[in-house]
Amino acid sequence: MERETQEYLNIVTDFYEDTLSRIINYFARQKKLTPFLLTKLYVFQLFRALAYLHHNHIAHRDIKPSNLLIDKDTQKLVVCDFGSAKTLKDPNETSVAYISTRYYRAPELLLGNQQYGVEIDIWAAGCVMAEMFRGGRVMFEGANNTDQLIKIIQLFGTPTPEQISEMNPLYPSKDMVKVKPGDINAYFSSSIPKEGIQLLQQLLIYEPSLRMRAIDVLAHPFFDELRDFQMRLPQGGKLPDIFDLTTEEIQSTDRSVLDKIIPIWRRNQGISRKISKHSLKKV
Ligand SMILES: Nc1ncnc2c1ncn2[C@@H]1O[C@H](COP(=O)(O)OP(=O)(O)O)[C@@H](O)[C@H]1O
Ligand SMILES: [Mg+2]
Repeated sequence: MERETQEYLNIVTDFYEDTLSRIINYFARQKKLTPFLLTKLYVFQLFRALAYLHHNHIAHRDIKPSNLLIDKDTQKLVVCDFGSAKTLKDPNETSVAYISTRYYRAPELLLGNQQYGVEIDIWAAGCVMAEMFRGGRVMFEGANNTDQLIKIIQLFGTPTPEQISEMNPLYPSKDMVKVKPGDINAYFSSSIPKEGIQLLQQLLIYEPSLRMRAIDVLAHPFFDELRDFQMRLPQGGKLPDIFDLTTEEIQSTDRSVLDKIIPIWRRNQGISRKISKHSLKKV
């Protein structure tokens, strides 16, 4: 009876052979890190997808390696599994805090905040990036919700009352054990590019409002290698066209950020026409 009244939504999408989780494991089995060029390509495409979603006030709410699909021939990455996604336009709207897969859960969720924003995806994406740098070892591997928070505190130290209030104004801060911050470099091998660690430190931040916005991440120097015209994939092929920004993406930020994101050689191929054709609006 109920079956007859229920509506089903069937979505047909392109087929992607791999997930980021499989690719990270593939290299981990050979005791190797995901090659840095691939890490840069994947992370750039992940943040480009988040920039698009966040511009439209959509939080994915379950960013993790198995929800990132990859075409290994072109190294194109797309985000899948919108089963938890939600439009978060009204800052006063409440949403469930028990969301996201534990290892990737942002601290404001762990503190039970029900009025969080799209910044929870930035935290999760930072954890994904860190996992690639750690050869597939999860960045914060908590055994339960409390242990998850403890793992974060072991690196960043006990949050100050101000930080706690930024994460969840309703959280009683008195009962937290005092722990000093650890050293982020101890989590990674010394071969990890320093711009990468520096970017991570702008993503994995207690205060959601201080985390870098997805569109600004794309302009970070960590990705400069991808902007090099000569750059080729490890197998020798050309990089996928990661700078083919749509009009909507272009209009979502200002010119100075776009100038940093899109290299001159790529702008000369037509993007610049799009920029000058449309008046640029600030979000
Ligand atoms: N378009 C696709 N092409 C190939 N594999 C896919 C595709 N979409 C999903 N998958 C695979 O199916 C798995 C589960 O799909 P997902 O949408 O994440 O649903 P859920 O995690 O809610 O079961 C993904 O981790 C991925 O391995
Ligand atoms: Mg999934």
